[in-house]
Amino acid sequence: MARGTYATINLDALVYNFLQVKHLSPRSKHVAVIKADAYGNGAIPVAKALTPYTNMFAVAFLEEAIALREAGITLPILVLQGPYAYQELENTKTLNLHWVLHTETQLAWFSEYLSHSDIQGHQWVKVDSGMHRLGLPMNEFDDLMRRYPTVMSNKCVIMTHLAAADEDDQTQTNIQINSFLSKVSASDFALSIANSAGAIALPKARQNFNRIGISTYGSTPFCSDRQITLRPVMTLSAPIIAVREIPKGDTVGYGMTWQATKPTTIATVAIGYADGYPRHAQNGTPAVLHNRRISLVGRVSMDMITYDISNVENVKIGDMVELWGNQLPINEIASYVGTIGYELMTRVSKRVPRKYIHAKEKT
Ligand SMILES: Cc1ncc(COP(=O)(O)O)c(C=O)c1O
Repeated sequence: MARGTYATINLDALVYNFLQVKHLSPRSKHVAVIKADAYGNGAIPVAKALTPYTNMFAVAFLEEAIALREAGITLPILVLQGPYAYQELENTKTLNLHWVLHTETQLAWFSEYLSHSDIQGHQWVKVDSGMHRLGLPMNEFDDLMRRYPTVMSNKCVIMTHLAAADEDDQTQTNIQINSFLSKVSASDFALSIANSAGAIALPKARQNFNRIGISTYGSTPFCSDRQITLRPVMTLSAPIIAVREIPKGDTVGYGMTWQATKPTTIATVAIGYADGYPRHAQNGTPAVLHNRRISLVGRVSMDMITYDISNVENVKIGDMVELWGNQLPINEIASYVGTIGYELMTRVSKRVPRKYIHAKEKT
């Protein structure tokens, strides 16, 4: 008999979210970003579900692309960090890969590769418009175009990445977009700027290709509400494996960090930091049991968490607790633990089985 701890992944919600964002840019093509095992949701089932709706997929590095090909995914795959070595380019044709080239070394490798290959249009050139993480310096763009004419031909896509598209104040983002467009839009290049936040909130960021990640998985990138409804995709749930009454004054868990101020009913739930639930979650972090909010008490341990369930009636061993998902937005838990939905999702560990369902099925 299985432990009963699951991440349930709603594939209908996933497709719904992707289409919501896609429909905002009817003239753009879309890249579904499925790196890091589709942000923890499972790259292969996610890729299969999105194949009819996306133009291509994006992963971070070659091995993630190979795993998709081995699973029979056939759409083009964009490799966001580009080749780490020249030899990786030899997979371009056989695996139908598109590469983000963000250093001059990568431009030189690709130029060399093109000199003995018949492929066309498999290169995206990344320009640093202000994020200062990856990308060629904007002021070297014209010079690089002259020096790498076969790479930076009208067959390539020129891209940049926005540093703060999810912020309410878009001053900096507008500066980034305007400086990028003023540099590249006079040429004949296809362009790509938008991530989820850009595609949702910034019409000027919607160019030939949008690269959509987090919104597909149902987590808004914004701190405040926007005119888009996303449905939760991942619901993390685990069963109660013990229930006990403790008197006023007793403590719960390692380090005795929580003390009962009144007689309290404590439920122990079969999930912990080894499953990806953050250990630093504090007393008071919510979960849901029988449609009611309950509060975490005591430290999260490796395989278990304890909750005060005094406000819930008729609780039995085996009843399921929702850690986040359908009834509790992942971003709410993220704000309790000082992180973002991206990190919570991607950290759900391998020992938590993913159950794939469609919307009408019960989670
Ligand atoms: C270069 C690039 N484009 C697009 C995305 C997708 O961003 P988001 O998940 O915010 O939609 C990412 C994600 O980190 C990225 O690194």
